Amino acid sequence: MVRTINENTVTDAVIEQMSGTSAPRFKEIMTALVRHLHEFGREVDLTAEEWLAAIRFLTAVGQKCTEHRQEFVLLSDTLGFSSLVNTLHDKRTSDEATKSSLLGPFYRQDAPVLKLGDSIVSESKGPEVVYYGQVTNAAGQGIPNALVQVWEPDETGNYDLQKLDPSVMDLRGRFRTDSEGRYYFRGICPTGYRIPMDGPVGDMIRAQRRHGYRPAHIHFIVGAPGYRELVTALYVAGDEHIDSDTVFGVSDSLVISVNPNDPASPIPNLPTVHYDFRLAAAAKSAAMSGRVGADPSQILQKAH
Ligand code: BEZ
Ligand code: FE
Repeated sequence: MVRTINENTVTDAVIEQMSGTSAPRFKEIMTALVRHLHEFGREVDLTAEEWLAAIRFLTAVGQKCTEHRQEFVLLSDTLGFSSLVNTLHDKRTSDEATKSSLLGPFYRQDAPVLKLGDSIVSESKGPEVVYYGQVTNAAGQGIPNALVQVWEPDETGNYDLQKLDPSVMDLRGRFRTDSEGRYYFRGICPTGYRIPMDGPVGDMIRAQRRHGYRPAHIHFIVGAPGYRELVTALYVAGDEHIDSDTVFGVSDSLVISVNPNDPASPIPNLPTVHYDFRLAAAAKSAAMSGRVGADPSQILQKAH
């Protein structure tokens, strides 16, 4: 007898049809996805019109993506999903390590390689700040030659990728720690900004009456062989949006203050931000990368 499909039996019918999936993790993920998606449809009693609006919205999100813009990452971020995945990642080690925070849509993997003490500024005019500290293991021992990647928005709250010529690199750099794991460089004082609001995610944010701001911050990726890569950001204390970040990236332990007069600064006569990064030992399993996102040009599949 042919089975009757109704709003309840359809879920098991789909799961049964997928039951031959050979990769166990893919099977687990797709089965749970179908269960939760169907439950969601039943819970809100989704209409055909609403379904079509969702399809239109997701289509617009995809159409907004380019090699310089990742609207899907932005959607994940604004739904708190990127932050959720980061916290799950952080829980997969027992080492006391620096917390992860959002990579966001503006990371570029080919930032200029600079020397300790250099400036990441090529175009912008914001007030100069020295960033310095030590990259250590969970026991507090310095990690020499660790790679520190950094990027931040300019004084108007825009990343270089958002400016007219995306081939320009500004406020980005890659550094190597010294023999004791120390890093130091010059940048600008971070500025808070609104996430890109000119696409479908911006429409969603406005419809939800959210302000759309991120508190002032600077991004870091810190890595070294034998350690879990750390993707994080430092947030400026006192920013008016420090407790209402549109993408839920702020954690207490990532909040910093600019010190106007720091006798320990490796570069004298400039305000400083001092922060030490602690890396967890690398896990043996495959679930190592803490990157929720990527350089947008690496995500986009070019048509052949
Ligand atoms: C960022 O910090 O670069 C960012 C993160 C999520 C959404 C938009 C921007
Ligand atoms: Fe950012």
